[in-house]
Amino acid sequence: MTLASIILAAGEGTRMRSKTPKVLHPLAGKPMVWYALKAVKALVDLPPVLVVGHGADAVKAVIGDAADYALQVEQLGTGHAVLMAKPQLAHKADTLLVTFADMPLLREETMARLIEMHATSPSPVTMTSLIGDEARGFGRVVRDAQGHVAAIVEQADATPEQLAIREYNVSAYCFDADWLWSALEQIPVSPKGEYYLTDVVALAVEGGFPVESLVLEDPDEAIGLNNRVHLAEAEKIMRKRINEGWMLAGVTIVDPETTYIEADVHIGRDTVILPNTYLRGQTVIGEDCEIGPDTILVDTQVGDHVQLLASVLEYAQVADHVTMGPYCHLRKGAVLDEGVHLGNFGEVKDSYLGPGTKMGHFSYIGNAKIGRDVNIGAGTITCNYDGERKHPTEIGDEVFLGSDTMLVAPVKIGDRSVTGAGAVVTRDVPEDTLVMGVPAKVKGKLERRDK
Ligand code: UD1
Ligand code: CA
Repeated sequence: MTLASIILAAGEGTRMRSKTPKVLHPLAGKPMVWYALKAVKALVDLPPVLVVGHGADAVKAVIGDAADYALQVEQLGTGHAVLMAKPQLAHKADTLLVTFADMPLLREETMARLIEMHATSPSPVTMTSLIGDEARGFGRVVRDAQGHVAAIVEQADATPEQLAIREYNVSAYCFDADWLWSALEQIPVSPKGEYYLTDVVALAVEGGFPVESLVLEDPDEAIGLNNRVHLAEAEKIMRKRINEGWMLAGVTIVDPETTYIEADVHIGRDTVILPNTYLRGQTVIGEDCEIGPDTILVDTQVGDHVQLLASVLEYAQVADHVTMGPYCHLRKGAVLDEGVHLGNFGEVKDSYLGPGTKMGHFSYIGNAKIGRDVNIGAGTITCNYDGERKHPTEIGDEVFLGSDTMLVAPVKIGDRSVTGAGAVVTRDVPEDTLVMGVPAKVKGKLERRDK
């Protein structure tokens, strides 16, 4: 058996009222369609075929080679959309898994069960349904007197009796490929002028095949995203799933309701996440850390035993035993080595701080390379920008920068040197030297301090 997957993503998503194609709206930091691709990836033998149409170029630009593409130029319905994948798959796959890109909550395990159910069924169609009280615009599953599936009727075309049916079409299907390709040629055009994929169910029944449906236990999985109310609903469910996944993996989340962890984030064991914390993008956090409250990490790597309080870290790296906050901001290219301490109101950008270096209060460090065990006095600033260009600052090991030191870059300070409070350093300072004043002048050599 060769199993292929078709994911429909060509619709306009009018109800989103957006300039962005519906399937690119983010959910837990990833475009909606990413989840549909992820759910089938491990199950299929061929690259999934994404049927694109509305906003095709934008979708392709985001998804790249994670899928093959079929183009549906005019959106003539879900049946028509599936047919667009025929040239690619007709002689390659004998079983087809068909899903929609606007249903990101369907789980891989559910797809696996659907495939298994189909493999043991004599029917060319196996579908999925849900029993409940919230119709949400779903097609209704019509069953005959014996309880066998007879047809799917779209809500817009249903009779009042059919509207009262409480079994809904979820829209994940498994098909025998050859049968589906010919059935799709036979589906009638709907009153709305569309070719409904759902009509193949009645065709199978008319052809004498009993159609089985996998009835989902978790209604959340079936939520299709048609507008932004649905988007927020799905976001909440996804957040709960992600948080529960990490809690079961050994991470303490004090208040899951206010903890926002995106899909690609990784967190080590025995780390504690405090409320109102956002972990975004490709963020990786080690073990035994305490993150938050009120902390935002974007694409940031954090080692073990790190404490981050009420701070924002973007595209930064933080080694083991770093402590930070409250109210620090690490920007792109900030690298803090082991045991660095940042107290309140520190900003670091494009800079390296060596092991054990401390910056307690109100400092800005940009375009700097700072050695180990440096004391960065309160209010120290790298004056790295002359109005046109950025210039580098280099500070050696065990340097002591007095409070309110201004480092007018480009400038270098040698190992173990000391600046007086309020010094404005405009020239390089050699090793073991004391400088003071505005502009800073050499006040003498220091006796080499042994650590
Ligand atoms: C569809 C089902 C309905 C089911 C519901 C579950 C049909 C006719 N109806 O309705 O029975 O209960 O899903 O969520 O299948 N698309 C295309 N090309 C098209 C039309 C749609 O690619 O020409 C794609 C859309 O981008 C979307 C998916 O197919 O990802 C579903 O389309 P949508 O219009 O949202 O169908 P529903 O009204 O939700
Ligand atoms: Ca839909």
